[in-house]
Amino acid sequence: VVASVEAALASGGLSPGQRLPTVRDLAASLGLSPATVASAYRDLRSRGLVVGEGRRGTRVRDRPPLRFVAPVSAPPGTRDLASGNPDPALLPDLAAAARRAAARQAPGLEPAGPRRGARQGRPSGASLGHPPQPRPLPRLYGAPALLPELADLAREHLAADGIDPAHLAVVSGALDGVERALAAWLRPGDAVVVEDPGYAYIFDLLATMGLRGVPAAMDEEGLVPGALAHALAGGARAVIATPRAQNPTGAAWTATRASELAAVVSRFPDTLLIEDDHAGPVAGSAALTLGPRARWATVRSVSKSLGPDLRLALMAGDQTTISRVAGRQALGPGWVSHHLQEMVATLWSDPATQALLTRAETAYAEKRRALVAALGRQGIPSTGRSGLNVWVPVPAEHPVVAGLLERGWAVSPGERFRLASRPGVRVTVSTLQPQEADRLAADLSACLRAPPARSA
Ligand SMILES: Cc1ncc(COP(=O)(O)O)c(C=O)c1O
Repeated sequence: VVASVEAALASGGLSPGQRLPTVRDLAASLGLSPATVASAYRDLRSRGLVVGEGRRGTRVRDRPPLRFVAPVSAPPGTRDLASGNPDPALLPDLAAAARRAAARQAPGLEPAGPRRGARQGRPSGASLGHPPQPRPLPRLYGAPALLPELADLAREHLAADGIDPAHLAVVSGALDGVERALAAWLRPGDAVVVEDPGYAYIFDLLATMGLRGVPAAMDEEGLVPGALAHALAGGARAVIATPRAQNPTGAAWTATRASELAAVVSRFPDTLLIEDDHAGPVAGSAALTLGPRARWATVRSVSKSLGPDLRLALMAGDQTTISRVAGRQALGPGWVSHHLQEMVATLWSDPATQALLTRAETAYAEKRRALVAALGRQGIPSTGRSGLNVWVPVPAEHPVVAGLLERGWAVSPGERFRLASRPGVRVTVSTLQPQEADRLAADLSACLRAPPARSA
């Protein structure tokens, strides 16, 4: 049963959303016992391929984790405000960074021009009159997983934000870090508190790991303390929280909210706390933390600030979590490529990149503010204190998404980001020009006023 469902999913014979036969019907038609079919369905559920819906039966998950599924792209000719991506114009030139990183390893290869981000105290072969080194020695097995130079910079940045940097690992992005922290402590069947609305890939990841997402309500300052307390009281083993640039709502903790949430989690000392700081320095709000505690991890990705293709995040946490993560990683990918680590260290020590990050942070804040204000002038409430997204609660998502598409704007329906929360649409503002905000707000207002389409 499991193999045939999986094969049908892979071949397209079964589609996302499609219902499976009831246990009883399938058992009868295959001549199997209902217990056998029920056990097969359990197996499919625990791998995130299907979802049980109580009396309504079992259906294929919307995004079963079987192969890479490209996100739906904005139709040609529309403004893409749906992707969640940073603005390419506000990311550093990685090819140039790679050349500079290589030059740091082999000073003889240094490109012409002023040397930026040079490591202090490291003599340049060329400047000392030594013959240029043709290339650095290749790195082999056995090097420390975390490049010491990147570790030093990470310790400096994290400590400045009040995050304990005593134990560090480097992982392949925020989501990879979240998965590794969960895998360090949890077992299939365990419950995890998630933000609702929250990041769709976290929901999918939990389903794939056989973990149960327990929704906790959000407002524009992040998780609502009472909702978190209620969800934790149900016995969850972990909580995943986004301190800033919350996706999709653009929420960010205030200092007051962070201390209220800290008071809540302190009542559950064995619960693993994972902080997903996926936007880092371009979030446009302070880095706040509820840690350190017995089991915690803060993952700070460079995806939104330096580029998603670097696939790199730093993880700070307690000694056990970090050593489990690093130990397990050593048996799989081994480490995050030192070329990538060297590039991030190069960019982090480059004044021009620091200036670009400040520009990006300011630009994203201006775009969010312009849209929230323009929507406000139309009488439409929205949230967007931090990050790349503005969230607009709407009574029904699809008429608004379709209406905006007709008017040339692609935005995301909120349903992928919701468990029990109310409908909304997510507008990624990273490439929105502030002067476009009024037209978008007027178009959104027109969509909200349009009478609902009559069904046949
Ligand atoms: C809340 C959240 N977490 C994680 C990620 C993924 O980050 P990374 O590319 O570092 O895995 C995103 C991407 O948008 C996100 O919104």
